[in-house]
Amino acid sequence: MQTDLRGRDMITEQEWTMDELDTVFDVAWDLKRKRALGEPHALLRDKVLALLFFISSTRTRASFEAGMAQLGGHAQFIESRTTQISHGDTAKEIGEILGRYNDGIAIRHCDFGEGNKYLREVAAASRVPVLNMQCDVYHPFQILADAMTIMEKFGRNLKGRKINVSWAYAASYQKPISVPQSLILLMTRFGMNVTLTHPPEYKLMPDILAQAQENAKRSGGSFEIIHDFNEGFKDADIVYPKSWGALLTTTDDAESARIGKKYTDWICDARRMKMAKEHAIYMHCLPADRNIEVADEVIDGPQSVVYDEAENRLHVQKAVMALTMRS
Ligand code: CP
Repeated sequence: MQTDLRGRDMITEQEWTMDELDTVFDVAWDLKRKRALGEPHALLRDKVLALLFFISSTRTRASFEAGMAQLGGHAQFIESRTTQISHGDTAKEIGEILGRYNDGIAIRHCDFGEGNKYLREVAAASRVPVLNMQCDVYHPFQILADAMTIMEKFGRNLKGRKINVSWAYAASYQKPISVPQSLILLMTRFGMNVTLTHPPEYKLMPDILAQAQENAKRSGGSFEIIHDFNEGFKDADIVYPKSWGALLTTTDDAESARIGKKYTDWICDARRMKMAKEHAIYMHCLPADRNIEVADEVIDGPQSVVYDEAENRLHVQKAVMALTMRS
């Protein structure tokens, strides 16, 4: 257990050791138990966290705000559109200034090629921890919540479990690639057998793939990439089919929509779920395109754990905030 995590940024869980992440999970379960019992846990009394959003959110905003209140502190919601950022406030200035008002700065900035760079610039200028509420490369708190959920279903030792991280069709918009990227990075560190399934146009960043491969080698797990939707489900303990944009192929929305139309049959339905192990769980970070990306019968069915995932956002975030922002 690592007990001195004060001041640490959480931009990607890849930069935290397994010991440190185990500490996060231990604290998250402790705080989840305390909340279930109604035990007060005001570990961040008088602390303030800035929540700077460049795009919309349901779960992330609500869980960070609720979490800070439950820890005895306050979260100030700041929508970038209502600030002077578009009139010239730089990332360095945001880091310097919000860092002087607050005890932590959480940011969601998913613009492709810009988000992660922005977070790094803010972090370099900030005297307080920077927490990544999702950027163009990583979505660490989603994936920590996912890992917590998987461990609740299968136990803490995940060695040898198969997870299928798969692309699925969606019509709504070019979703970021940060969820599948953070998933393959973290799941390969548990010694799991990780399959990444996607049509050829939906590649992920080469350096992330190389890190996932290296993680798998070190942990004794495996990492493979396939392009057959049905094949990915076979023998899986965990299936995580979700859409993402063909961002490494094109950043043009119309072109991306045209490519996606070739794969409208990539929907997670009951027939596909039957190809996985009988005890397999269905996961999705939400929001999902219902009956396009996933059939109602699956997302609302007995194998779905999507609400546990959403709940665990609260607990892992409270754990990281308490560990990094305490006095
Ligand atoms: N999963 C997730 O990050 O949800 P929101 O976009 O609603 O925050």
